[in-house]
Amino acid sequence: MCGIAGYIGPRNGVEVVYDQLKRLEYRGYDSAGIAYPQNDRIEIVKRAGKLTELQKLLDEAPRDSRIAIAHSRWATHGGPTNENAHPHFDRLERIAVIHNGIIENYLDLREELLAKGHTFKSQTDTEVAAHVIGEEYTEGTPLEEAVRKGVQRLRGAYAMVVVSKLEPDKIVAARNASPLILGIGIDENMLASDIPALLPYTREVVILEEDTIATLTRQSVHITDLDGRELPLEPIHIDWDIAAAERGGYEHFMLKEIHEQPQVLRQALAGRIDEKNRVRLEQVFSEHVWTEIDRVNIIACGTAYHAGLMGKHLFEKLLRLPTDVYFSSEFRYGDPVLSPKSLAIFVSQSGETADTLAALRLCKSRRIRTLGVVNVIGSSIARECDRTIFTQAGPEISVASTKAYTAQVTVLTLLAMYIAQVQEMPGVRVSDAVAELVALSEKAEVCLKLEEQMIKLADKYKSMPLCFFLGRGADASVALEGALKLKEIAYIPTQESPAGEMKHGPLALVQPGVVAIFGSTDSETRDKVVSNMKEVQARGGTVIAIVTEDDAVTERAADEVIRIPHSKMDFLNALLTIIPMQLFAYHVARLKGCEIDQPRNLAKSVTVE
Ligand code: F6R
Repeated sequence: MCGIAGYIGPRNGVEVVYDQLKRLEYRGYDSAGIAYPQNDRIEIVKRAGKLTELQKLLDEAPRDSRIAIAHSRWATHGGPTNENAHPHFDRLERIAVIHNGIIENYLDLREELLAKGHTFKSQTDTEVAAHVIGEEYTEGTPLEEAVRKGVQRLRGAYAMVVVSKLEPDKIVAARNASPLILGIGIDENMLASDIPALLPYTREVVILEEDTIATLTRQSVHITDLDGRELPLEPIHIDWDIAAAERGGYEHFMLKEIHEQPQVLRQALAGRIDEKNRVRLEQVFSEHVWTEIDRVNIIACGTAYHAGLMGKHLFEKLLRLPTDVYFSSEFRYGDPVLSPKSLAIFVSQSGETADTLAALRLCKSRRIRTLGVVNVIGSSIARECDRTIFTQAGPEISVASTKAYTAQVTVLTLLAMYIAQVQEMPGVRVSDAVAELVALSEKAEVCLKLEEQMIKLADKYKSMPLCFFLGRGADASVALEGALKLKEIAYIPTQESPAGEMKHGPLALVQPGVVAIFGSTDSETRDKVVSNMKEVQARGGTVIAIVTEDDAVTERAADEVIRIPHSKMDFLNALLTIIPMQLFAYHVARLKGCEIDQPRNLAKSVTVE
């Protein structure tokens, strides 16, 4: 995600915040900028590209200020351009704002402000937020009060930081959902979106709570709630080394990213659901297009392909829309038969995977409509697709994909619900389904609490010679992803297939010592899955079952049972099973001493064919 830095104290604030941004570089970004009050105005220096581009501007005219805020942006609303880079001014250029997160109601607010005569220089939600706070910054209103009033008009996730030319002795920050950390120093104070940026300056930090406002001066830090009530300042001491701090205290990025999934589920929906639980994806294609489409082809590689398989379940079950899922490398050389009314969906975390890009170009040459489901804004696939829905998962650093998968499936689910809404599909209650999707984030939190159990299982079975991953329906698709995680980071051979296929061959591999992990979340196929479990056990294999909390049948058949929270949509239960599978793979790999974030022979972005 984007990086935030801020400093007030005796040092050169511009240099400090630049250094802080450098310490957040590992998170990925595509533009950066700094604001500092000086001589009755606010100076803003910002540039698309890497920090070295910003440094060139700073070298041309060295800057010095005791107070500064800075931001490195990972584009969400609007491409990675100089104009879209933060900070942004309010209408009267009295305040400058930087922001992480997504303002869900920014389009409504933008329209409201345009009607009042505001003009905008960027396409960002942040500039809209700056104008909203600016509107509240009336004569006699202190900056913290304007921020308090302004953020109450915003819906969504934010960590927001503001400086003012009228009050150049303070920094005001507000937090809701996106992280923000205050650093408490002696005769200086600072803030950042992540702890590593603060550690060279202080080890006393305050993790700002949700819905709070912080005011930093050189000598003081005050925190208040949204009603203006003062809250206690309770710093904690951080003794992590800097490398551990970059991983948020986790041993590996993969574990950090697994734990980010509840937040990622929220982010993937941010700004896309209204108060009545209706889906808002209007920018994707105009509504009539969705009634014309007669077939969907989902094209992707690896984990993204597995997400595509989940999409197929929904598109066919919910929408009765014929859907094929292709490996990009097979599609492009396979001379595919493409209906002119079909839609090709390209799923990719990086947006740069060479085979997926080539498949996209093939579809474009055949004049087929193309839609990207992509994480990285500005990437080739995002730029070349007719339309793109961003997964909004934030940068994924670990080679093994985890949070990108949950975000991809969430976005495909949202898209299916949107199409059902546009087509007014009989029998589909979109708002009920959306409510289940919204509730998924809390259920993902509960799944993360299974970690202790997964550590014990990982320890018990880490020497298994072979691990099966099995299920039926959507559980069979998740099985493929669970198996990929275990093989790519723990180097354990896996055999994954629909559970019903076992007796057509793979069952021959079962012998004592072999483990079979079954996802069994669909009540309609539960009895059949139990029979498949018995087939494994009869040959000496061990069965681990992942089931929903209301399932009283499967536990009697399995050797080990993992329970996840129940959703009324079976499909979403299947999606949640990936979290214990990811944790299992991670802890097996850790206990075996494997190189987790960079497994052998693999790269994060596969730009060769
Ligand atoms: C596995 C993994 C890969 C990617 C695949 C596609 O954990 O990360 O299988 O999913 O290389 O990459 P993207 O999504 O960037 O197109």
